[in-house]
Order: sequence, then structure tokens, then C-alpha cells
Amino acid sequence: MNTCTTIEELKSTIHASKTKGKRVGFVPTMGALHPGHASLIEQAAQACEEVVVSIFVNPTQFNNREDFETYPLTIDKDLEVAQRAGATVVFAPHVEELYGGDLAVAPVDYGRLTSSYEGQKRTGHFDGVVAVVRKLFSAVEADSAFFGKKDLQQLAVIRRLAEEEFVGLEIIGCTLIRESDGLAMSSRNVRLVGESRQTALVLHGWLNQIKKEACNQGDIQTALRAIESEAAEMEGVELEYIDVVNGASFEPLHDGPVDPEAFAIVAAEVGGVRLIDNCALACS
Ligand code: PAJ
Repeated sequence: MNTCTTIEELKSTIHASKTKGKRVGFVPTMGALHPGHASLIEQAAQACEEVVVSIFVNPTQFNNREDFETYPLTIDKDLEVAQRAGATVVFAPHVEELYGGDLAVAPVDYGRLTSSYEGQKRTGHFDGVVAVVRKLFSAVEADSAFFGKKDLQQLAVIRRLAEEEFVGLEIIGCTLIRESDGLAMSSRNVRLVGESRQTALVLHGWLNQIKKEACNQGDIQTALRAIESEAAEMEGVELEYIDVVNGASFEPLHDGPVDPEAFAIVAAEVGGVRLIDNCALACS
């Protein structure tokens, strides 16, 4: 596995493999790799001979300074995880390599996609995500890029970015990976200490409740309101939003038959750790 820290090194490695006719897959990450990330890398390795994994904690997408400063850094372990999962190149640039000295990013307006839910609760978050992913896409020039459905709204934003600016780049949405008890895997889960780890399971529980309601043609609105009331009574849990949306447009869906693209989405702080989760409502 090749490790690069500069765009120049990265481009020359990729250029060499492209001239050999290799298909290039790209998995952008912020490191602290867990099996969710590994599953993306494995999927990329099945489809592509060259698999580039970027590891970069992007300062411009954090709307909370403390979250950025305490973001877990585990680069040695990350290199092992990436290699084992099938990465052939790891790109781990310093901040200056991507941003020079200027961390100002342009605002991005994709309507509801960037202004609702995560966009509303984390002001400027998608501006930073789009800024860094645009830089990374330009540097890697991959054939396919792999993103997790764990960050469903981010996936929709990236699809839009690719449609507008990277025509020909295939965006692949990959399955959300959970712990055995149902908690969605996240680099931030290591911060769930004491009872919070157990309490965090409530997010998955709520999503399952909504799915059950949807599959039984129940009243989703009533279910959502009941969950909001339950959350308000819970200690150590701050519900930010819970809703049912179309997973591509992020338009809310409350009435009528269940849209095949309907997802329940949730964000909450548990023990001071911000968590997001979602689940498809299509009934099998
Ligand atoms: P990060 O949170 O490190 O996630 C990197 C990729 O891993 C994202 O596509 C995310 O959706 C996916 N991922 C995380 N947890 C997952 C899980 N439990 N199951 C499946 N996939 C999972 O997302 C980012 O970094 C950044 O915003 C980034 C796109 C790298 C831009 O900085």
C-alpha cells in the first residue's frame, strides 16, 4: 500500500495506474476507521483495482470547535485497517496541502438538501463537506467514489455535487453498518461513556418503531410526536430531529402510501455526543 501526503505524489501514482487501464475507486474518510469504513473500502476493492482512501479530519465541516479538537486520531491503526480492507493508496494530506492558508469556504445552496436537518442543525457543515470533497475529487480523479448511507443526507449532497461538477464520476451508496446491538457505527461512539452507550440504542429503537408503524400502515405523524414526547422526558438525551423523508430529496413525507425511497432519520445528543442514524422504510 502506497501512502501519499501531497496531491502531486497522489496524482502521479494514480496516473501510473490509469495508464495501465486500472479502474480507480475512492473512499474519503476522516480516519478513526471502524468496520463501517472498512466495508466501503472492501466494496471499492471488489469493483476497482486501485483503491484510494483519504484520511483527513476536515476542519471546515466542524461547526463545533470542541468536536474538531477531540476528533479521534488513530492513524497507525487506520493504515492497518485500510490495507486489510483492500486499499492500495492512502492519501493523508496536511491541512495546508488542501487549503493553503485559507480555511474560508464558499456557501453551498442545494435547496432543502443543504438547508434542512443536518444543514439546519450544523450551520456551514455542508459548505465544508462540499469544499473538501470537491478538492479530493479533483485530486483523485476516480471512476467511482464510495459513501456510506450512515450519512444519508451527505450522500444526497455528494450525488448533487457530482451531477453538477463531476459528470462521469459514479457515486456508490453503501450499506450502513451497525454494532451487534444495533448502534450505528461511528468514529464518535468511543466518546459514549458509562450509561450513555446503552442509552444511545434508543435511536435505533425509535427508527424501528417508525418502520413498524409504516409497514402496518399506521399513523406516522402520531408515532413521531409520541417519540418526541418520550425523548423530552429522557435524561441525557437531547433529540434534535426525527422525521420521515425521501432519501434523495430530503422532502418530508408524512401522508399517503410509503414512498419506496422513504427513510426515517434521527439526530440526537446522548451524553453530550451527537449521533445520527436512519433506516429505510420500504417493507419486505
Ligand atoms: P467519516 O465520518 O470518516 O465517514 C467516511 C465515510 O464512511 C462516509 O461515507 C460515511 O458515511 C461512511 N461511514 C461512516 N460510518 C459508517 C457506517 N456505520 N456504515 C457505513 N458507512 C459508514 O463522512 C465523512 O467522514 C466526511 O464528511 C468526508 C466525506 C470524509 C468529508 O470530510
